[in-house]
Amino acid sequence: MAAVVVALLCVFPSFVSPRGSAPPAADATPRLPDVVIIGVKKGGTRALIEMLSLHSDVVAAQNEVHFFDWDSHFQRGADWYVSQMPRARPGQLTVEKTPAYFTSSRVPERILQTLPDVRLMLIVREPTERLLSDYTQLFHNRLEKRKHQESLESLLMRDGELNLDYKALNRSLYHVHLQRWLAIFPRTRLHLVDGDALVREPLAEMKKAEQFLQLQPQINASHFYFNQTKGFYCLRERRRQRCLHRSKGRKHPRVSPEVLRKLHEYFREPNLKFFQLAGRTFDWK
Ligand code: A3P
Repeated sequence: MAAVVVALLCVFPSFVSPRGSAPPAADATPRLPDVVIIGVKKGGTRALIEMLSLHSDVVAAQNEVHFFDWDSHFQRGADWYVSQMPRARPGQLTVEKTPAYFTSSRVPERILQTLPDVRLMLIVREPTERLLSDYTQLFHNRLEKRKHQESLESLLMRDGELNLDYKALNRSLYHVHLQRWLAIFPRTRLHLVDGDALVREPLAEMKKAEQFLQLQPQINASHFYFNQTKGFYCLRERRRQRCLHRSKGRKHPRVSPEVLRKLHEYFREPNLKFFQLAGRTFDWK
């Protein structure tokens, strides 16, 4: 039997789907995405796409495609983009996530041209926490490459003031980026997910996402369980349980209260502008 399975896998690599479920139906083909998760980096984009994939009418690209923000990919054209997508049956929604889209100025127009009916999702998180998460990722990447580590303070502070050129700071200025998207797409096309709420209570956020995507309600409490060791909710599909990769949900560095105070103060005005643009508020103290 094992030999038969191995032979089948050689001839039909898609015999086992990426999530180890049933083989795709014969009428399943890769298509342009119906839904794009545009960001924000470290907002909880992986958790969001994995949780959406719990729904049987959603199929998700495994990797970040970077089609619209990397010229080398964009120049390959829409056929190449389609080739990066998973097979979808008629009626299923194809989703991809590339968090770098949110902050890239040419992306909104490119998406509109390529995917005129797309629905967009943006997951945001309290901006200081997002910045710390962004720094933590950079820290770990450099650690893996055995490169020199700079402290957050040295990147973030210049002569006692915040260094406004620090990229991770700019990424947390959500209103600056959102206004570019809203100049191209109507607000109704964009769904905002509360990344902090997704950590605390994933089901409630996923119910709102199902509604926005006009999916039959399907995601339910049995899909989630809290894993004490990880300190986050993990996913349960059929009888399989899985947590997100260990790079998700890392400990953040200790930052001096003075720097934290400066950051919170700095983001106060931008946050209000973001709430106004978004037409809703977030519980960011
Ligand atoms: P931290 O690692 O800073 O805690 P992204 O996928 O966009 O890179 O976002 C990563 C963040 O997703 C993590 O940041 C974590 O807080 C958040 N997250 C949300 N739900 C999660 C979950 N169920 N498991 C792990 N991380 C989750």
